[in-house]
Amino acid sequence: MTKTEKVDSKEIGLVAGLNLFNYFLGTKDLHYGFWQDDLEVTVQNLPEAQQRYSKYLIGHIPGDVKSILDVGCGAGGLASELLERGYRVEGVSPSPLLAEAAQTQLGDNFLIHSGRFEDVQFSLDERYDMVMFSESFQYITLNMVLDKAQSLLRPGGYILICDFFKTNATGKSVIGGGHRLDDFIEVMNDSGLKLLAEDDITRQTAPNLDLVDQMGRELILPTMKLFGYVFSNNRPWLTKLFRWKFRKRLEKIEYKYLSGERNAESFTKYKIYKLYLLQKRED
Ligand SMILES: C[S@@+](CC[C@H](N)C(=O)[O-])C[C@H]1O[C@@H](n2cnc3c(N)ncnc32)[C@H](O)[C@@H]1O
Repeated sequence: MTKTEKVDSKEIGLVAGLNLFNYFLGTKDLHYGFWQDDLEVTVQNLPEAQQRYSKYLIGHIPGDVKSILDVGCGAGGLASELLERGYRVEGVSPSPLLAEAAQTQLGDNFLIHSGRFEDVQFSLDERYDMVMFSESFQYITLNMVLDKAQSLLRPGGYILICDFFKTNATGKSVIGGGHRLDDFIEVMNDSGLKLLAEDDITRQTAPNLDLVDQMGRELILPTMKLFGYVFSNNRPWLTKLFRWKFRKRLEKIEYKYLSGERNAESFTKYKIYKLYLLQKRED
């Protein structure tokens, strides 16, 4: 990282989430949980729900796949499951902090291509059976991602995408992220890739947002109130200055996390969580 390059706040969010959930729940996954009817939506059940997501995703890997490029490999949770199942796996990570966590978990032999998928240079003879995007697709520039992924595949190789997209619902969502589904479909149709499977898992993933909502109300809000109480009593002028200086940021946090709109209902309206299995043509 050069001196002038700013640290991406999304990366900090992911690393903070990783540290928190790894410490309290022992999970290294950074993707949503896959909530089925028999699993109560509680934060304690999140690791089990994330395991089910990984299992669901891995269940869509065709039988002739042996090598996988895991784009946006996070802290290596999914790669570790893939390696255990005997796949040859390499990762791509733009985040030095997450790459370090993945390297610690998977060992020095695990090859991580450092950088954004858009920028990473692969050697000309590198060809994978599958390029996988597990909740990383939304971060990558849409108009190049399928072409680049395709160029890294052997003929007949696959692209597996599992991520959420924006619907056409009117109004403003407090939940950020996701390419517009219509834009993705256009890019997919132009790519020459064959669509082998498509699944809508919005119902199984939306409950994650109820957990976020609960965390806002039961953890973030009381913690902020506690700090506010202590500081406004002990350092009233400093508190006023802080509130004024960071008012925009505080308003944003309140709007995003404490407005009560970051929940499953709003996710289901503004987002659609989909799996796509695509295949490169043989010729
Ligand atoms: C929500 S996490 C998912 C991590 C992991 N795939 C999983 O399923 O647990 C998103 C991942 O995308 C990565 N990412 C963000 N922008 C990216 C880019 N331009 N190229 C490649 N990966 C990117 C992040 O570093 C992070 O590892």
